[in-house]
Amino acid sequence: MDKRFILLLRNAINLANDKLMNCHEVSEECGKFFWIYPFTNENINGYIDLFNLKDRSLLTTGSSSDQAINAILKGCSDITVVDINPFTKYYFNLKKAAILTLSYEEFFKFFCYVDYPKVFKYNYDAFNYGSYVKLKNILKELDEKSFLFWDTLFDVCKPNDVRRKLFSNDEERLSVIKGINPYLKDENMYKKTKIKIENINLKFIEGDIFKIKLEKTYDNIFLSNIGTYYSLEENKTLIDKLENNLNDNGKMLMCYLYQTVRDTKYREEWNPIYNLDKTFEILEDYVTYFESFQGIRGLMFEDKNIKDSVMIYKK
Ligand SMILES: C[S@@+](CC[C@H](N)C(=O)[O-])C[C@H]1O[C@@H](n2cnc3c(N)ncnc32)[C@H](O)[C@@H]1O
Repeated sequence: MDKRFILLLRNAINLANDKLMNCHEVSEECGKFFWIYPFTNENINGYIDLFNLKDRSLLTTGSSSDQAINAILKGCSDITVVDINPFTKYYFNLKKAAILTLSYEEFFKFFCYVDYPKVFKYNYDAFNYGSYVKLKNILKELDEKSFLFWDTLFDVCKPNDVRRKLFSNDEERLSVIKGINPYLKDENMYKKTKIKIENINLKFIEGDIFKIKLEKTYDNIFLSNIGTYYSLEENKTLIDKLENNLNDNGKMLMCYLYQTVRDTKYREEWNPIYNLDKTFEILEDYVTYFESFQGIRGLMFEDKNIKDSVMIYKK
């Protein structure tokens, strides 16, 4: 078995047992992103139809794989997921096996932890063994290493600890998760996703999007809210680089912005990209669209006026 896999597994077991991951050993860069996002925390439903995904290609980040799964539902089949989180591929295959085998309700009971089944509760049935047994054979067929990864963790750790400690706490409540993910909107969409995902295999690149060398070009690129963690100059460097990997007429989601519309007044304590006047100046060649829609907080408080936005470049 390859050394890298054993190292990742050992570090995952450490995390589940409250020991720290040796980030230096796993990946110099993964830093605060060594926790997997259980679900997206963006309103993907708010922006996904701004992109033409059907039979087109997509490069996306997102360790939750929700960006990719929602794109599959929209007819995209050529998807590359690039993420700094080393467990992304294993988690996608776990989610895919779950979608293929679990009912709509079982899916939530298996993956949700925070605010489930009710707000202010935690789900001690998350990663329950009963559902794992249902999905494990399919997982093995999908990807041997993903199976070995989760099967070992379920064997040597308490499954609920695995769900709690390998994952970020950044998890929305169930009504929001359903509202932001078209594939989880209702039972009907979930069933459609089951059919669409069955024959889709994603490509995965583990690494820092600033540093990796991409071999091909794409019709669409989703950069999530990565830009919020970097300076405007660093954002410009990244977008200059990725522009070369975007096909003509292709679109790039440059950054997802929380609780922000075009005229939101910037505050010094916010990340630099939220200084929109400056951002528009530095990225002036790139901001083709600035689109706003009901945001995560808006969905949480059922208030249509609390909006998030995306900045999109069309080549
Ligand atoms: C900024 S995070 C926040 C979660 C995001 N809003 C979502 O809904 O998925 C987005 C994803 O980017 C990944 N990430 C962060 N910095 C990265 C980088 N420099 N290169 C590649 N992936 C990165 C994280 O591991 C995470 O999966």
